[in-house]
Amino acid sequence: MPSDQLYLELMKKSLTYMLYGLEDEYVPVKRPHNPVKRLIFDSIKRRGIELLLAQPKQLQVRFEGKDWPMPKSALTAIGMIGLDNLQFCVEDVLRRGVAGDLIEAGAWRGGASIFMRSVLKAHGTEARKVYVADSFEGLPKPNPEKYPKDAGDTHHTFDVLAVSLDQVKENFSRYGLLDDQVCFVKGWFRDTLPTLKDNKWAVIRLDGDMYESTWDGLVNLYPNLTVGGYLIVDDYGAVKGCR
Ligand SMILES: C[S@@+](CC[C@H](N)C(=O)[O-])C[C@H]1O[C@@H](n2cnc3c(N)ncnc32)[C@H](O)[C@@H]1O
Repeated sequence: MPSDQLYLELMKKSLTYMLYGLEDEYVPVKRPHNPVKRLIFDSIKRRGIELLLAQPKQLQVRFEGKDWPMPKSALTAIGMIGLDNLQFCVEDVLRRGVAGDLIEAGAWRGGASIFMRSVLKAHGTEARKVYVADSFEGLPKPNPEKYPKDAGDTHHTFDVLAVSLDQVKENFSRYGLLDDQVCFVKGWFRDTLPTLKDNKWAVIRLDGDMYESTWDGLVNLYPNLTVGGYLIVDDYGAVKGCR
């Protein structure tokens, strides 16, 4: 295997944490629908206690990107399959000379965006940038008047999804990939993505979970996807609102 590919294989194993063996997983308990359980849940939360659910380690689940990695472990939740797919898309546009930059809207800890930057690095590509768009404070509250499909969405209550810009920059920096080919776009997509309307894209990766977040990406970014480029909608299969 050529050395650029060896580097990218190692990157994927490291970013998914599969290189180190999986840690015990604890995922935040979702706010229950049952009103009594909800009262109890809220009163516990008010005391500053986070309820976590123990999950057995499952390598296959991580491989498929179907779990939420613990803090201080994987920098992406999209798993090996998601990263393999992303690598294919980025390398394919490089190979075919499809013009434009790369963007992820919904970066969380930054792992998938870090990986895109590493693919450019591996191929010695200096003329393209990686845009990393996120609130860096979690998901917005749903706006059911405008987006009925988001009614009742609870993603905004998950503290685990709020990762600060400083933390994401630090994550890039640990891989030696924080440089001027990376552009951070901080804020709600409804405010920030319209400012990117003049950019040309070769790969767009939407990973904002909600209907609103996906819609803002489609409306503002898709029109400038170069013909032959790729649009990846991460949550299409798994999150009903997004689909
Ligand atoms: C599921 S996480 C992304 C996972 C990540 N791509 C990965 O590789 O694991 C969703 C991210 O989207 C961001 N997000 C969702 N909707 C947003 C919006 N409307 N505006 C800004 N950020 C948003 C959240 O802050 C969160 O970091």
